[in-house]
Amino acid sequence: MEQTQQPTEPVLAVTALKKYFPVRRGFFQRIDGWIKAVDGVDFHIERGRTLGLVGESGCGKSTVARLVLRLLDADRGDILYNGRDIHGLSAKEMKALRRDMQIVFQDPYGSLNPRMTVGQSIDEGLRTLGISRGQRKARIEELLETVGITTAGADRYPHEFSGGQRQRVGIARALSVEPSLIICDEPVSALDVSIQAQIINLLKDLQDRFGISYLFIAHDLNVVAYISDRITVMYLGQIMESADTDALFENPLHPYTRALLAAVPSTDPRARKEMKSLGGEVPSPLDPPPGCKFQGRCPLVEDRCREEEIRFYDAGGGHLVRCWKAIEE
Ligand SMILES: Nc1ncnc2c1ncn2[C@@H]1O[C@H](COP(=O)(O)OP(=O)(O)O)[C@@H](O)[C@H]1O
Ligand SMILES: [Mg+2]
Repeated sequence: MEQTQQPTEPVLAVTALKKYFPVRRGFFQRIDGWIKAVDGVDFHIERGRTLGLVGESGCGKSTVARLVLRLLDADRGDILYNGRDIHGLSAKEMKALRRDMQIVFQDPYGSLNPRMTVGQSIDEGLRTLGISRGQRKARIEELLETVGITTAGADRYPHEFSGGQRQRVGIARALSVEPSLIICDEPVSALDVSIQAQIINLLKDLQDRFGISYLFIAHDLNVVAYISDRITVMYLGQIMESADTDALFENPLHPYTRALLAAVPSTDPRARKEMKSLGGEVPSPLDPPPGCKFQGRCPLVEDRCREEEIRFYDAGGGHLVRCWKAIEE
């Protein structure tokens, strides 16, 4: 990607992003409803910073990731990468973008070919850079060292590694092409708590060394807290609250954010509570009701919440909340 932009310009800016999936029924597969997976999402990521994207399973986080990577086309909205709309890119620019924006998944097993050695997997990315075999070999060793795996690991297969080590390999693979943005989609959700911290520390180190920007996705606020400069809380395809990390933890405004925080275990991480304070289940994103999407579970709900679309209120300093009650309080 060209690097001609102003230093203050966000690496990624997403506006009014929408993706609905049709639900089809019957012999003729007529459209029977819409899953509003992403329903008007806005956020931006500053260069070299981390945006945490949090919300319960099914709220649309991975769909946002796939839209940003253009693995999926949006119905509406703009995705500006380094100031350029990714929908207007030429094939050549799209190829460059595919390198510059990488993804790390929850399960690196899914992204690593089990029949390839770790070295071969990392080499796949390096080959696209058009460098010599010798240089690639040296680079593989350097990458493995960077993520804390011995160079002997290059000749082993994914199944010979633990979950945490496999995730390190997944990160090495993403790093191989020197990306400027990495989307981490629940990168530590499948790992033991002690290992989670190690992987998050590694990601933070890499950011400090290489200035990488992250979109860090998780369903657990605890997990995004340490690495994120700013946090965006999603519910049923919409953003409920966005704030700098300190502000969000010191002064959570949306009833949903508060419920998520109340569910965060304070001392013993093994005694994880699953959203005790949140009544009910996550409702289906299939044809959600008008008004606030959180109305069915909200302790503060009033008629107005069921009647009108709730807009964003700025509580000051860029602390945005989609709740009029929170602002009134
Ligand atoms: N390709 C698809 N077709 C139909 N529905 C989908 C598709 N992908 C995701 N969904 C639905 O969209 C909603 C959001 O999914 P997802 O983005 O995976 O959520 P999250 O990552 O937050 O768990 C879910 O209800 C999911 O079932
Ligand atoms: Mg997901």
